[in-house]
Amino acid sequence: MEKIVILTGAGISAESGLGTFRDEGGLWAQHRIEDVATPEGFARNPALVHRFYNARRVQAAKAQPNAAHKALARLQKDWPGEVVIVTQNVDGLHEAGGAENVIHMHGVLAGALCATCGHRWPSPPEMEVGEPCPACRSPTARPDVVWFGEMPYQMDEIYDHLAGAALFAAIGTSGQVYPAAAFVHEAQAAGARTVELNLAPSAGVSSFDETRLGPATGTVPRWVEELLGERGG
Ligand code: APR
Ligand code: ZN
Repeated sequence: MEKIVILTGAGISAESGLGTFRDEGGLWAQHRIEDVATPEGFARNPALVHRFYNARRVQAAKAQPNAAHKALARLQKDWPGEVVIVTQNVDGLHEAGGAENVIHMHGVLAGALCATCGHRWPSPPEMEVGEPCPACRSPTARPDVVWFGEMPYQMDEIYDHLAGAALFAAIGTSGQVYPAAAFVHEAQAAGARTVELNLAPSAGVSSFDETRLGPATGTVPRWVEELLGERGG
């Protein structure tokens, strides 16, 4: 049965109250990427970086999954073929909405990583500078989030999924950050149909077979109901 691969971005969590990056007043209008989302920034001022992720971690822990997250979980449950969710988001709202086996290519706010030995453990709500690693005791704990200039996680697995996709959907992502922005081309090369569900056309809009504009809590449940052959509202 047809395999569906879905890429999500900050836009799917916008209606849960979490900020996006490049919309008006977004996170990159409030903070400089080089200060809070690069390894150099962390080396220069770890306290600033921890403050940035602590605020997002606390906010994300209070956020609720919205109708779009829940609709994708339903699609995973009721679609006869495999439905793979690859997210650029570091919040846990897909899982909170009932999704399983979500691939977090940019890491997770709920995770801590030791920059010395690579050990991973659940992050405390607020991380401090010099937090000791439970495994090697080095004071080098960092958020387990992929920064600019670093390799996203599970890329081999993601490309395998794209190579087998019959349908690819990009939801709530501006298509400005690679490698995620090129997934639509990988899917197309595999012969997949491609659809974009977004509030505004993304940078890659012309690459998609179909584009549906509107808030994710409207477009995603409708799209899922169509796929599952359900009729009605
Ligand atoms: N419903 C659907 N889409 C929305 C909504 C909404 N309610 N609100 C905003 N959007 C769309 C915007 O139109 C935009 O296309 O979500 C997208 C958000 O784009 P970005 O802010 O660039 O977020 P994203 O594409 O996820 O960024 C990718 O960049 O900074 C890095 O690592 C960070 O994972 C992030 C990556
Ligand atoms: Zn360690």
